[in-house]
Amino acid sequence: MTNLMKGARANVVDAIGGTPIIKLNHITKDLDSEIYVKLEYMNPGGSTKDRIGAYMLDQAVKEGTLKPGGTIIEGTSGNTGVGLAMWAAVHGYKCIFVLADKQSKEKIDNLRAFGAKVVVCPTNVAPEDPRSYYSVSKRLSETIPNSFYVNQYDNLHNRMTHYTWTAPEMYEQTQGDFDVFMATVGTGGTISGCGRFFKEKMPNVEIVGIDCEGSIVAHYAKTGEMIEAKTYVLEGVGEDFIPENYDFDNIDEWEMVGDKESFLMTRRLLKEEGVYAGGSAGAAICGAIKYAQKQKTPKKILVLLHDSGNRYASKIYNDDWMSDNGYLDSSFDVQIKDVLTHLNKTGNIKTISDKASIGEAITLMDEAGISQLPCTDESGAIKGLVSEKALLKPVMMGEFNQEDNISLAFNMNYKIVNQNELLSTVADALLQKDVALVMKGDQLVDILTDIDVLQYLSKTRAY
Ligand SMILES: Cc1ncc(COP(=O)(O)O)c(C=O)c1O
Repeated sequence: MTNLMKGARANVVDAIGGTPIIKLNHITKDLDSEIYVKLEYMNPGGSTKDRIGAYMLDQAVKEGTLKPGGTIIEGTSGNTGVGLAMWAAVHGYKCIFVLADKQSKEKIDNLRAFGAKVVVCPTNVAPEDPRSYYSVSKRLSETIPNSFYVNQYDNLHNRMTHYTWTAPEMYEQTQGDFDVFMATVGTGGTISGCGRFFKEKMPNVEIVGIDCEGSIVAHYAKTGEMIEAKTYVLEGVGEDFIPENYDFDNIDEWEMVGDKESFLMTRRLLKEEGVYAGGSAGAAICGAIKYAQKQKTPKKILVLLHDSGNRYASKIYNDDWMSDNGYLDSSFDVQIKDVLTHLNKTGNIKTISDKASIGEAITLMDEAGISQLPCTDESGAIKGLVSEKALLKPVMMGEFNQEDNISLAFNMNYKIVNQNELLSTVADALLQKDVALVMKGDQLVDILTDIDVLQYLSKTRAY
């Protein structure tokens, strides 16, 4: 067989690019400006780094720096690793990746699944420290024969990828119908390559870099002064040195963002826009909103979102991780278990067996002073709920007798929620059901009603 099937790509690398641009409609509702996002997570490896992986390695083969049978080495926060590993799988090369230990577990597992060797190094050491992931990658490439150190930081094919590919693609999609281009910065490849291309095509375009608190890049760009970097949690954004890929002449403005606001915005992107992107996308949108709020006239702002949310399932999209790290603080972004503690609910919940009679249920409710009683089978599984209100009329009318089985009086007007879920889940449930039954694993621990939520909010919220 010689001809490729019509409509098919020759391999996964050929499927990179052509990602859509969409408008944000809800997060932006209070702005005069419009924000459009380029969904780079729709690349096959889940990020814009698929492009630089393929482009840098194609160039390395052309230039003879990557030879057949060679080993590709890179210090990468994960996304570039996937791009390189994908290209290496298609073309038959080996890979070794060196990562800082703050990177998410998904990213590390993902690279190992590609068959790559992964070396994990400490985050909190200076780049020149022999343990840093920059130093380790360099050392490996000097000692492993027939290896090629990609070095996305100083390899200028990184920014050329965006100059020759990502930016022309966006220009063609939009016909240049935007006023501002914004992206978070790491190696500087995206902003510098796109910035140069757009400036050449659109003299009035504004290019805005988004950096994070703790990084040195924006400060250096504005003052020429090198300061000491501080630790931050965002992945892929900011640097503690200035990579060669930066082209500051093509970056007009800077916006700064912090970890917490970025993570909360990442979650809002999914909840309010259905966009499942990574933390740097939340950072980018925070930066874009800050920029938009300062504008005197409405602007069309195009923002590149670098990667997919599924690399952050155990972090940004995990309520426990967000709560444990103090990133959740709005009244509704609190976990149900914390609400129970706040309300001094002891978890000492009364239940009744599904074998019991209606009379026994009424006695128990009376003695315990409760108006809702969950019924369980021998295994503890919830079978239904009996409520004072639902019992009154049928008992009065003689429809139910005291000795009838409790199941006659069941109502299903409850929603089961896990104690690790957020209060917003309970609030949503209570808009449709009478009560929320709170579970710890498969064990029922409490009941939350409208009055509990109202009580919690009145205690914690300043009106
Ligand atoms: C998730 C994520 N966002 C943003 C960036 C920044 O892009 P660039 O390195 O092109 O400046 C990176 C780069 O590593 C990244 O992985």
